Amino acid sequence: MLVNRPPMGWNTWNTFGWNISDKLVRESADAFVQLGLPQAGYQYVVIDDCWSKKVRNMENHRLEADPDKFPEGMKAVADYVHSKGLKFGMYSCAGQRTCGDYPGSFDHEFLDAETFASWGVDFLKYDFCYKPQGIDGKLLYRRMGMALRASGRDILFSACNWGSDDVWSWIRSTGAHMYRSTGDIFDNAESYRKIVMSQLDKLGTSAPQCFNDMDMLTVGMYGKGLVGTTGCNETDYRSQFALWCMCSAPLMLGCDIRSMDEKTLKLVTNRDLIRINQDAEARPPMWSHHMWMDKQITMMKHLDDGTYAIAFFNMDETDAENYMTFSDFGLPASAGWDVETRDVMDDGEVKTWREYMRVNVKAHDCKVFIAKLVRQ
Ligand code: GAL
Repeated sequence: MLVNRPPMGWNTWNTFGWNISDKLVRESADAFVQLGLPQAGYQYVVIDDCWSKKVRNMENHRLEADPDKFPEGMKAVADYVHSKGLKFGMYSCAGQRTCGDYPGSFDHEFLDAETFASWGVDFLKYDFCYKPQGIDGKLLYRRMGMALRASGRDILFSACNWGSDDVWSWIRSTGAHMYRSTGDIFDNAESYRKIVMSQLDKLGTSAPQCFNDMDMLTVGMYGKGLVGTTGCNETDYRSQFALWCMCSAPLMLGCDIRSMDEKTLKLVTNRDLIRINQDAEARPPMWSHHMWMDKQITMMKHLDDGTYAIAFFNMDETDAENYMTFSDFGLPASAGWDVETRDVMDDGEVKTWREYMRVNVKAHDCKVFIAKLVRQ
């Protein structure tokens, strides 16, 4: 199965945690389509932890859906999601129990993969809680990688060991298509910044077929739901979304999409940002700090058509003028090229710069441009 672009979709966990049901998933699939998310590239509707009975079937040892939450069983949910033209994702865990204390797939990998395939699952998030002591975590991802491929169905393998055991150095070899690289996200500025800053120098191994997953987005949650904490405002959501796009990270929405507000919808369907995220080359951004203000981050990313994405992030509490010297990213003043930029988040302004760029960025905010080189 080829996974050429960072996967895009929606996952239940950030907002709903264990509070999930057939009704919620169907309503969310409806909203997904009504909002036009598929046209923007979103595809997967994923049920996270807490969907199963507390124990396996005693006779055939299979996992079974909780009949209170999913009275018609999982196949019916998958069929509904598919009927909307969407893909269906589920969750299990490499350990004996899931993080929410439901049966994990340890030592049942092939049986579970077969069950998921029989239900019509297209995506499996695979967590890391309750791993038996003394068993190599890497081996458990190898097992599920094989089991999914043996299942007879194309199932995207979304590994989630929170970045342990230097995951980026071996996960691609297990057949995984994306891999969580950090602990869980929470809906506040400190959390998404910490995640991104911890990964910027580890994106070298994130590439088509196996992407660094910086976790589900909190964009649009405004503090509501399981990982809500203090919540962010629109400004932080702009920065969070733009950072995920600059890093070619999977875009898995985590808010309640049934009540997504206009601003969030506009942001998460911004064509240019998604074009940057989905760039076929998926190169990591080159990045640096402002010379003396370490909360001003600048980035430049090669795009597949010879253009560039340029971004400025102001992670400070006050508005600031941000500064980028093109020579820091490979364009010396002597080269004879200027840089023409188009603002893709605000006014669409087109401007030409020589040697450097200075832009005002509000506290917590960002500016993103698509740029090309023009002869002087
Ligand atoms: C965590 C994981 C979360 C969510 C949760 C479910 O380990 O990082 O994204 O899946 O488990 O219990």
